[in-house]
Amino acid sequence: MRIVLVGPPGAGKGTQAAFLAKNLDIPHISTGDLFRANISQGTALGLEAKGYMDRGELVPDEVTIGMAKDRMEQADAANGFLLDGFPRNVAQAEALDVVLKADEMQLDAVLDLEVPEDEVVKRIAGRRICRNDSSHVFHVEYNAPKTEGVCDTCGGELYQRADDSEETVRTRLEVYHTQTEPIIDYYRAQNLVVTISALGKVDEVTARAMAALKK
Ligand code: AP5
Ligand code: ZN
Repeated sequence: MRIVLVGPPGAGKGTQAAFLAKNLDIPHISTGDLFRANISQGTALGLEAKGYMDRGELVPDEVTIGMAKDRMEQADAANGFLLDGFPRNVAQAEALDVVLKADEMQLDAVLDLEVPEDEVVKRIAGRRICRNDSSHVFHVEYNAPKTEGVCDTCGGELYQRADDSEETVRTRLEVYHTQTEPIIDYYRAQNLVVTISALGKVDEVTARAMAALKK
């Protein structure tokens, strides 16, 4: 299956993507994780992205689209994929359509995670991620690691993302409403959007998502 995951910051996209990718046996491609890996490796791409991310703004399309394309090629998109955090504006959605069309591929669904803003703020405030791999995601209260400050998956140190400060979260939410939400209408016109509530326990949301994708 070829799926795009969309939803506000802190909706649980990364958390759900890990389970959905495993259940569906497709690669999880997160542009946020790719940028964070580049930042921790000190690459030129990471250096360029960091300022935008720390401010909660989108990294320019020229950089993002190229990186996402490379990763999709590497993952052999023909076998399916789960995109998390990409596309994030209409220009990126159009660029993705061009890439897919060139290989005679189509998206199967756009899974839209709906969460009220006050819940998003609580989820982000308590989030801790792993130094070794930012796709290892925890929450101090809702999804606590077995040992405080230590990643269950790899034993790495947990820390709070630089862009999870209150001020940056406000910018990220605004960017989501103005730039990312329009892609939901873009995909609605293609009859691809499946909206589910992302409230409830992590496994309940996964079950809801799997049921919605099967329809
Ligand atoms: P990115 O990393 O994509 O961040 P985001 O979209 O803001 O999403 P988050 O990672 O904040 O949240 P999430 O929905 O994955 O939630 P999570 O599962 O962690 O992007 C970061 C930045 O990179 C952007 O601001 C931009 O600068 C740049 N960027 C990335 N892609 C780009 C693009 N395409 N174009 C341009 N720029 C781009 O969950 C949140 C917390 O809630 C966790 O602590 C988790 O444990 C907890 N939680 C999850 N599910 C539940 C549940 N059901 N109940 C209780 N708690 C839960
Ligand atoms: Zn880890």
